[in-house]
Parts: sequence; structure tokens; C-alpha cells
Amino acid sequence: MTLSDINPGSDSASLVGDLYRHYRALEQDIQVNEKSTRTTYRSPVNFIESMQKPRHRWFPYKEGFSPSFVEEFLSTGLHIENGLVMDPFSGSGTTALVAGELGFRGLGFDVSPLTDFVAKTKAISMNANELRTLKGYLLEFENSSLDIRASNPKNATVERYFETEVLDALLKAKEFFNEIDCPKTSSLFKLAFLTAIEPFSTHRKAGNGVKRKTNYSWPTPETDSVSAVKRFIVEKLGMFAADIEQTPNFHPPEFLQKSCLGDKLPDDVEDVGAVLTSPPYANCFDYSKIYMSELWLGDFFASKEDQRAFRQASVRSHVHATWAERYSEFGVPIVDEVIRPHIEEQDLWSPRIGSMLSGYFADLGNLLTNLKPRMRNGGKLGFVVGNSFYGGVAVATDLLLAELGRSRGYEVEEIRVYRGIIPSSQQFRKLGNNRKYMRESMVVLRRP
Ligand SMILES: C[S@@+](CC[C@H](N)C(=O)[O-])C[C@H]1O[C@@H](n2cnc3c(N)ncnc32)[C@H](O)[C@@H]1O
Repeated sequence: MTLSDINPGSDSASLVGDLYRHYRALEQDIQVNEKSTRTTYRSPVNFIESMQKPRHRWFPYKEGFSPSFVEEFLSTGLHIENGLVMDPFSGSGTTALVAGELGFRGLGFDVSPLTDFVAKTKAISMNANELRTLKGYLLEFENSSLDIRASNPKNATVERYFETEVLDALLKAKEFFNEIDCPKTSSLFKLAFLTAIEPFSTHRKAGNGVKRKTNYSWPTPETDSVSAVKRFIVEKLGMFAADIEQTPNFHPPEFLQKSCLGDKLPDDVEDVGAVLTSPPYANCFDYSKIYMSELWLGDFFASKEDQRAFRQASVRSHVHATWAERYSEFGVPIVDEVIRPHIEEQDLWSPRIGSMLSGYFADLGNLLTNLKPRMRNGGKLGFVVGNSFYGGVAVATDLLLAELGRSRGYEVEEIRVYRGIIPSSQQFRKLGNNRKYMRESMVVLRRP
């Protein structure tokens, strides 16, 4: 079925029928391989394994995927010697870091100043002298009474997520590393500080924001807040130092804090042998809300304008920004002509979801178009995506992205399904056989 078979005057129900017929037509010649459809949190595209691996375990970025998943992708059927391994949505840097561990050149882009900092810090290498400096500061920190405190974050909501004495202790630790004039050591302290924020907060990350913890207690046994925060940070830094010592031959990747979207990619993005990435899912999550405490306490945001600029630059996967028209020529017709009108007829919690979906695929189409001339012939791309569910219909991002890839001149190798997803909406039950579209998977493309 092609779009020209769809009657422009169709009502919403028949548009939905057209949509599922469209999915089935795509499935005729796209291989969908089910590795697993279980709805489990333990899957290769989940960050849990990262928390056991040197360097990867330094910051719990729940949106990340596992290092062994990247290793497997980079070890099969690729010719990337001397070529670049790239991740346009690099988050905590898993793809580029694993590329570095395997001896490849890794490059990651991310719009978030927080994840850019996390990834760059995870890539730090130190010689014996630098390690001695780090350990010296660690000892000084342990023995310091931490009398001076950094100023409060310029966001009153963030202040409310902490007990007063805990916020005070955190800001005292912050003042200590703000004064360290050795950039690598200071960054490692700052990363340890960032990892302390959620465990010491009265709130935790939940869905698209934060929620008050039901059983709040400090993560360390100390009874005064300064000692508790100090103990936490010292333990983290001990782990960082041990991991740095354990991974001496690591090839440090490069990370750029910028959007991967636009008119073109930077000139040095060339000869790309492999891309492995996971764009934000089209599920309305706003990273600037979920990571609000880290962004403000880490001084990545100093004003509302910083938050606004971050939202504007991000891929259109949420509804917390109003975007000027961009890249509409790169989108997917069935999204613009069937999914969007259907969704705009429903009374959803935000009227912007339809345009978000159109924009999401237009943004990804823009990236795929800009990437193609920078890829080696035969270069492989893996996009880990989660499908979504709005207004009673499944938005099969994986199939639609495969279709988009094909329209941008790539071959579609397969869709590998890693797990099922159950949306909270009651309407999900009505999906019947189409429930299978609620899944997390990887779309594998190849540049011919
Ligand atoms: C699902 S996370 C990636 C996680 C990563 N695979 C890891 O292992 O940590 C998606 C990332 O895309 C970033 N992002 C959103 N819009 C972007 C854009 N236009 N350019 C680059 N990165 C972007 C977000 O800040 C987020 O960190």
C-alpha cells in the first residue's frame, strides 16, 4: 500500500486501519527478528549492566544502553579500522567509550551540558603524577572541615528537593572542588558530587520528572550531613581512581556538546565506519526536567534561558518547547498525513503531540541525510528506539525509521526486537494483535 491509496477524506477510524495496513506492508520486506518480547528491565538496551563496568559505572544514566551491547555491535561484520565510530545522541558516552576500549576512534554528540560533562569525565586518562594529585586532594577533602559553602542554585524548585542541612553539606563539597585548580581532578570531584545528588535528595527520578521518595534516608550511615556527603564522595572517587588505574590503554574518545541536527555535520565527521545510537524516544520525556537537580546544582544551567536553549536544540521528542518550522522535507508522509491528523482529533493531554511526532521523524530524517555522505560504503548504523502509543494507536517508530532510512538511500538490514513495553494507558488493551508494536528495538541500516 502506498500513501496515494489513502483517501484524504477518511475518518479517523479508517485512518487508523490505513496505518496498521501500512505497518504490515512494511513488514513484508523488512526482517523483524525477535530477540525477546518479554517486558523486562534487564535487556541489552538497558543501562543496568553499565553499573558493573569500570568507567561506565561512574554515573547512573538510566537512558543509556549497556557496554556489552555496543561491543557486540562493533565486533560483528564491520570494517572500521581507522574509521570513526560515531554516536550522534551520545548521552553518557557508552558507544564512544566502548569504541575507545576496543581501540577505535570514538566521537559523540550531545546537546546536554550535563551528559557532555559526564562523558568527557568518564574519558579522562591520568598518568602516575596526576593520580597522585587526585589522591592528595582526596585526603585533603577527607580531613577538611568544609567550612565554606558555594551559593544556592538559582532555581527555587531544586532547593525544595533537599533537606536544608543536606543541601548545605552538598554545597560545601562543591566549594571544595570549585577551588581545585587541576582540571582533571576537579572534574572527577564534580562527577562524584553529581552522583551524590539523587541519593541525598528527598526526591527521585520517576517517569518524566521527579517524585518524593516514600522511604527517605541518607545513603551512608553517618549521622551528620557533612560527614555523610563526604563519605559518599570519597567512596566514589576511590572507585574512579581504581578504574583509571585498571584501564590504562584506553583510547580516549572525543565528545562535542552540540546538536547533531542542522544544515550539515562538522567537517571532521568523515569516514564514519559505524554509528550506534539511541535518540530520545518520542515519549514526551524532557531531559531538562528529569535531570533538573544535576543541571542546576552542577552549574550547567544558570538561568531559565539556558534551559530554554537546551530544549530548543534537542530533537523534537517532547512538548516543552515551541519549535520554528524545521526540516519538514525530511519527514515520513504517513506520520504527517495519517498519525498526526488522527492524534490531533483526540483530546490528548497536550495538543502538541501530533506536531512533536512529525518533527521527531523530520529531525531524524535530517540527521540520516547529513550522515550519508560522511559514511563509508558498507558502513552500518544501529538506532535503538522505543515505540510509543498515543490516542489509541501504536506509533511504530522502528518501522517508520526503517522506512525513513530507505527513503534517505540506506538499505534496511533488520529490526531487532529486544523487549516489549506496556503503556500505562487503559486504551492499550484495545490494541489487540497490534500490541506487538509496543516494543524497544534496534533498526539496523547500511549505507550501500
Ligand atoms: C537515550 S539518550 C542516549 C543514551 C546513550 N546511548 C548512553 O548510553 O548514555 C539520548 C540523548 O540524546 C540527547 N539529545 C537530544 N537531542 C539531541 C540533539 N539534537 N543532538 C544531540 N543530542 C541530543 C539527549 O540529551 C540524551 O542525552
